[in-house]
Amino acid sequence: MIPSPFEYRDRSLFVEGVELETIARAAGTPLYVYSANDIRERYRRYDRAFGDTPHLVCYAVKANSNLSILRMLASEGAGFDIVSGGELFRVLKAGGDPARVVFSGVGKSREEVEYAIESGIHSFNCESESELVLIDSIASRFGVKARVALRVNPHVDAQTHPYISTGLRDHKFGIDIAAAEEVYARAAAMSSLRPDGVSCHIGSQLLDTAPLIEAFDAVLALVDRLRARDIAITHLDLGGGLGVPYKPEQQEPDVTSHIQSMCARCQDRSLTLMTEPGRSIVGPAGALVTRVLYRKPTASKEFVVVDAAMNDLIRPALYQAHHEIVPLRQSAAPAIVADVVGPVCETGDFFARDREMANVLPGDFVALMTAGAYGFVLSSNYNTRPRAAEVLVDGAEWRVARKREKFADLIAGE
Ligand code: LLP
Repeated sequence: MIPSPFEYRDRSLFVEGVELETIARAAGTPLYVYSANDIRERYRRYDRAFGDTPHLVCYAVKANSNLSILRMLASEGAGFDIVSGGELFRVLKAGGDPARVVFSGVGKSREEVEYAIESGIHSFNCESESELVLIDSIASRFGVKARVALRVNPHVDAQTHPYISTGLRDHKFGIDIAAAEEVYARAAAMSSLRPDGVSCHIGSQLLDTAPLIEAFDAVLALVDRLRARDIAITHLDLGGGLGVPYKPEQQEPDVTSHIQSMCARCQDRSLTLMTEPGRSIVGPAGALVTRVLYRKPTASKEFVVVDAAMNDLIRPALYQAHHEIVPLRQSAAPAIVADVVGPVCETGDFFARDREMANVLPGDFVALMTAGAYGFVLSSNYNTRPRAAEVLVDGAEWRVARKREKFADLIAGE
């Protein structure tokens, strides 16, 4: 397990070598803060786990696409899993190597496919036959052979939140594993495609690795069947999905032993293994810092109103997600039980309900923990709220990695 970069020193919360309150006062709130060293360590843990097995760790950009984070991962040698032209643009701006980029997603547009082929990406993870036809025609126009993997759907229940579970028959994702051999045969007959990969992603935030292993074994069996039909599969993409603990009682799955068991299972098959982790690289490395505006006791309960809202972090409202809420300064005052809510005009705008928490007062800061993944990227301007600033801490240094939006930014395109 990688120890958290957030820890109290003399009752004040630090991230790496910097006191969070110092950053919050200087950069304002709401504010995302990320630990650079934690992100690097989390990436390296994946990279190291593969040992001698040929591999490519493709960071899932959707989890957190801040340029500073992408640049840091690019310099570590990471590949990238993208799901849009915009993500490819960011990766290239950050100095990412296009030859290490895989393009996933169920609805790539013609323009996006052209941009990806022009940029020379590694491969496409394809999710339908119509998409294969489109990629083939564009690749032919560019005079190249596009490498494709079919994302197969193995009908394995990821046992995670229904909105982020993707491996069942009724989901929009992937190609039914039972139909895959025939689709590969048709792809192999298209003149500008090289179907040399298989990919699979069954869902996100998996704390139990058993469903991932079940899916992996089904996919390996498919690789063997395809090779028997002379379809030369060279790479296998395991998808993302390893979860992180959001509650103190949850256990982080052991990434190293999970990857090692994947490597062991495909020994002697000479396959390059790819993986697309997002959350487990950036999630625990980030926190959302917010200031308490009011305490509001009512007849039935107490509310703590903070200056961050569902537009800044939508996970509690959208997935009933839990984020620990801790004070930047610990006090001896007895704990309270409260709902922590934001200023947005919706009852769904809450971060916690009936939560036992520190006895914070207006003006105090609190941090919503494990917010580095699917936090800022899912933020919006709802209620015409400028989006939060992002700060990257590296050892004893910190800097703003994205400025807080100004009112003028809000109307810039109108
Ligand atoms: N690969 C594919 C094809 C994916 O769809 C995803 C995530 C990943 C990789 C990265 O998965 P990870 O390692 O981060 O679990 N917004 C939700 C999570 C959505 C996940 C979407 N796909 C949340 O906040 O929980």
